[in-house]
Amino acid sequence: MKSGPASEWWQRGDLCYHRQELHFAGHRVADLAGQFGTPAFVYSAERVRENIERVKKALVTIAGQPQHRLYYAMKANRFVPLLRFLKQTGLCGIDACSPAEVEHAVGCGFAPGDISFTATSLSQKDLDALTSYDGLLFNADSLHAIREWGRRKPGSEIGIRINPAAGVSRASNELLQYAGPRTTKFGIFREQFSEALELAASFGLTVRRIHFHTGCGYLTGQLAQWQAVLEKCLWFVDQVATVRRVNIGGGLGVPHVASDQPLDLTKWAAIIRTCFTDRNLAVDAEPGDYLVKDAGLLLLGITYMEKKQDTRFLGVDGGFNIAPEPAYYQLPFQPVPLITGDPDRRLPFHVAGNINEALDVWSENILLPDMAEQHYLALINAGAYSSSMASNHCMRGDFKEHLLLQ
Ligand SMILES: Cc1ncc(COP(=O)(O)O)c(C=O)c1O
Repeated sequence: MKSGPASEWWQRGDLCYHRQELHFAGHRVADLAGQFGTPAFVYSAERVRENIERVKKALVTIAGQPQHRLYYAMKANRFVPLLRFLKQTGLCGIDACSPAEVEHAVGCGFAPGDISFTATSLSQKDLDALTSYDGLLFNADSLHAIREWGRRKPGSEIGIRINPAAGVSRASNELLQYAGPRTTKFGIFREQFSEALELAASFGLTVRRIHFHTGCGYLTGQLAQWQAVLEKCLWFVDQVATVRRVNIGGGLGVPHVASDQPLDLTKWAAIIRTCFTDRNLAVDAEPGDYLVKDAGLLLLGITYMEKKQDTRFLGVDGGFNIAPEPAYYQLPFQPVPLITGDPDRRLPFHVAGNINEALDVWSENILLPDMAEQHYLALINAGAYSSSMASNHCMRGDFKEHLLLQ
């Protein structure tokens, strides 16, 4: 399909204006909103597949990792049709972070051996549930987890999540950083690593995997920092002769605003090659955001338009509770009109949700065309950490979800 005005930074082949109207995954977005009602999340299966294939291709052809495994971080979006679709592609396993996520993934067709498990603050009940899945790829993030796994499954193989005390995130946003100068709860630090290995050995556990995930949303501008993080992680990898695989976590980001430079996967994969060429280890990754975020739109109905003092408000029928990333992490979300209108006659609007909280404003002073004739608005990048993190705050938690298979 031919794109509309090239001036919109987010436009691409499957998300663009055609004759002034927004189209997504081969559909007229206004038709989707009319058909499903609002608020509604729509996801493109094809876009998800393309995102996965792009990462896998970079891992094989540039990083030199034909044996890699990709685990989709299902915390990003656990919509059943999406997980079933992923299973059916055969392109990835699952990264799970709670017993309920494991159960959900198994229910969608994934075998325990396709599930990499990395979580924090595990209870005895959690551990009992987890050890009932034969073949689950368990990564311990603490001495506590090693001890409790070892007590239940002596002689088994585990991974260890480490913390290199350095991390990386979109625009160095601390809210998205899991490791760094500040001590965080994630993983085992250098200072405790030999104790961790001794503890594992005392239960006859063999450490097969080193795992780390140090932050979310990094783009090309952060790749030098990401390389420095990887180099710190290699210290841990090199301590353990039994290690066969390294899981470099997720964190690969997508652009949120016009000034964001998309992640250069060629450079990303070249860094992996540099770090692992001489090590004879398989490299795995577990992205969530990168695989599904830009494959989802949140469709909102317009409720009213009104000037208050000098500010024009555009009300919509969904609030931050159904897509909390802007409120939780200060991640900007881009509202997109369904009819492009005259780009030279745009006006600034505050786009406001329907929750009684001062922070429930999607965007301030966003330039939109004349909205008097428009019924809907789309938020792009709503495929990850939106529906999966939604709450029923103000009892406005209802929304629809649809996977577009085309
Ligand atoms: C351990 C772990 N792996 C992977 C991910 C996925 O991160 P992202 O969606 O940024 O790729 C997360 C996200 O919090 C995580 O905690």
